[in-house]
Amino acid sequence: MRARAEDLRRDGRRIAVVPTMGALHDGHLALVRHARARADIVILTLFVNPTQFGPTEDLSRYPRDEVGDLAKARPAGIDLAFCPPASAMYPAGAQTFVEVRDLQQPMCGASRPGHFAGVATIVSKLFNITLPHLAVFGEKDYQQLAIIRRMVRDLDFDIEISSVPIVRESDGLALSSRNAYLTPEQRTAALALSRGLAAVETAFRAGERSSAALLAAARAPIESESLARIDYVELRDADELTPFATTVDRPAVLALAVVVGATRLIDNRVLE
Ligand code: PAJ
Repeated sequence: MRARAEDLRRDGRRIAVVPTMGALHDGHLALVRHARARADIVILTLFVNPTQFGPTEDLSRYPRDEVGDLAKARPAGIDLAFCPPASAMYPAGAQTFVEVRDLQQPMCGASRPGHFAGVATIVSKLFNITLPHLAVFGEKDYQQLAIIRRMVRDLDFDIEISSVPIVRESDGLALSSRNAYLTPEQRTAALALSRGLAAVETAFRAGERSSAALLAAARAPIESESLARIDYVELRDADELTPFATTVDRPAVLALAVVVGATRLIDNRVLE
């Protein structure tokens, strides 16, 4: 892969990479199309990264469909796909990890210890292998995007990071590979996430700036859904991910993680 990328660079081609764990849906394909419009060569990576899964998480049952993924990705405009086996990415003895110290702590980092070190490490490795000028990520994983932007800045990766807004089903559910785990009943309950975000958006547009009131607005629709259990609902500075004491006076992100059945779902909305 790196030899190909070096050849392409030598020929003056602009390379974009779209890192994914596969089980592609229209959210991933929006990233591919975004990359297609901004580069000469689009590389899709498909790798279910073991180091970002905790010991009790869904690594072994994470949906995998490489043939189906490539069939979806080709018409969306990829030139190359990089689908390494785990043994190639993590040969025995690997012991170096990338951590973005503060940004990895709260929110998903608090309930998934080690998750973001796994993400930052694999993304660094994929950057070093695919040698992109541009890398495209989704705003669905808001904290992940903030961490990658900071990592690129802090470690002097010469890569532009571009983000794509959250792609949703027509009823508001954010697309996710994990939606495949939901029963029809749980799928309906999962709409509580986007309802919570819509309630916050409405309150914010009406002028509400109390952090407590905005958080309460987000929680209400989720708490009234018996199949849903809140992991976290947080309102934080949009860049630093620091909490607000009382009043929202800077661009903010309302981020939430909710467990529906056994499936943990995340969603967010930026308020500015
Ligand atoms: P994965 O969950 O497969 O997501 C790959 C990319 O697709 C991420 O940038 C994610 O934010 C984006 N994405 C997922 N659902 C989306 C949606 N509904 N709308 C817009 N974008 C969406 O995120 C990962 O994989 C991994 O952590 C990875 C970065 C590949 C490292 O292993």
